[in-house]
Amino acid sequence: MTAVELNEKIPNNVALSEDRRLQRALEAWQPKFLDWWREMGPMGFLENEVYLRTAISTEPGGWANFDYVKMPDYRWGIFLADAVPDRRIGFGDELGQPVWQEVPGEHRGTLRRLIVTQGDTEPASVEQQRKLGQSCPSLYDLRNLFQVNVEEGRHLWAMVYLLHTYFGRDGREEAETLVERRSGDVDNPRILGAFNAPIEDWLSFFMFTYFTDRDGKYQLLALAESAFDPLSRTTRFMLTEEAHHMFVGETGVQRIVERTAEVLREDPDADLRAQGLLDLPLIQRYLNFWYSISLDLFGGEISSNAASYFASGIKGRAHEDRYDDHVALDAYHRLMIPEDGALAERDVPLRNAMNQVLRESYAEDSARGVAKWNRVLEATGIDFRFTLPSSRFNRQQGLFAGLRFTPEGDAVDDAGWAARCGEWLPTESDYAYVQHLMQRPVMAPGAMANWIAPPKSGIKGRPVDYEYVRVE
Ligand SMILES: [Fe+2]
Ligand SMILES: [Fe+2]
Repeated sequence: MTAVELNEKIPNNVALSEDRRLQRALEAWQPKFLDWWREMGPMGFLENEVYLRTAISTEPGGWANFDYVKMPDYRWGIFLADAVPDRRIGFGDELGQPVWQEVPGEHRGTLRRLIVTQGDTEPASVEQQRKLGQSCPSLYDLRNLFQVNVEEGRHLWAMVYLLHTYFGRDGREEAETLVERRSGDVDNPRILGAFNAPIEDWLSFFMFTYFTDRDGKYQLLALAESAFDPLSRTTRFMLTEEAHHMFVGETGVQRIVERTAEVLREDPDADLRAQGLLDLPLIQRYLNFWYSISLDLFGGEISSNAASYFASGIKGRAHEDRYDDHVALDAYHRLMIPEDGALAERDVPLRNAMNQVLRESYAEDSARGVAKWNRVLEATGIDFRFTLPSSRFNRQQGLFAGLRFTPEGDAVDDAGWAARCGEWLPTESDYAYVQHLMQRPVMAPGAMANWIAPPKSGIKGRPVDYEYVRVE
């Protein structure tokens, strides 16, 4: 294990002080990152002390330090998980060969593009969420938002480290563009669609961290299998932090459902909007939106790129060790395909279906939280149940892009879509209502907005009414 250098300008466990050139290059990028943070990071709160965790090593159980810190002073560091001795490529044409410590020339462009695409999502989400502090439901939630934000900042550092270390001048240039693109900007947008939609209310934030951060989890799991060992080690540690982001989303939605269910139990006919609460069909519409645009992030169902990433060992499946066949040359994957206005079942060569395989793992994982939310309803005697929409619903990428399907997955014509899409996706009036509800931040220690239940417990053993952000 490499020693942790915590007192360097850039905290790290990659022996940065032994590579002066690299250290200087990253130290030259650092002020650009900080400028970006001040301009595009959370709006306001630059001077407030926030009770945050900071990565200080990769030791399981002891990798984080919790303390008050002003966000611009956060110690963003570079941490790779320990190397696995004699690690071998786990899939594809080079199965069983030693992993790569340098980038093979023939894969340079591909790896760089994958790293840049992953890296771009990290600052993008911070930009998308930058106004949310102004409408927080509690100090506990405000702190969680900022925790997610600073860690996405650290994930950007993780990708920039790879670009600087392994991709020479091109890599340094790409690192610059990562703090130049802006989410939603017409001229210079972020790379992926879902990362250009603004997140303007807390229900969207919780759906994003549940569904869209989970896409991140699956991309990271697939990259953790990579033959390019530094990428594997970087992403393995990022996954440790990512788990908290999805926890924020899952429990955030759960607490909203709990609050609504509590009122519905007393009075099944309660006028929820008159009481300033979020009704269940509205929550379902948000779910439909964020789930469907997150499915798009996995790419085309049938993809020759995905096949070649797998063949060359660049990107595997999530938990590759759970599969028996790691070569996937003679296997097929069954897909539903739109053909002549109908759906047909087709067997596609497995390697070409790797995006879809990853998407299906993601869908299965996404269903767990939805089942938990439903248990709240069940326990309260409410008949309503949340469901994940069909993977054909509202897709902008892949085989179903531009086609119309109901959330149940049935084809629907334009007129049918127009008549009913307001039942399926958030409407202008939904957004207006939700934003109206969340106009004012709730910032007294322990206080909660009316539309959300308090969390079961606080952070790191602190009480729920702890002053997680010092606002006075
Ligand atoms: Fe991230
Ligand atoms: Fe995340």
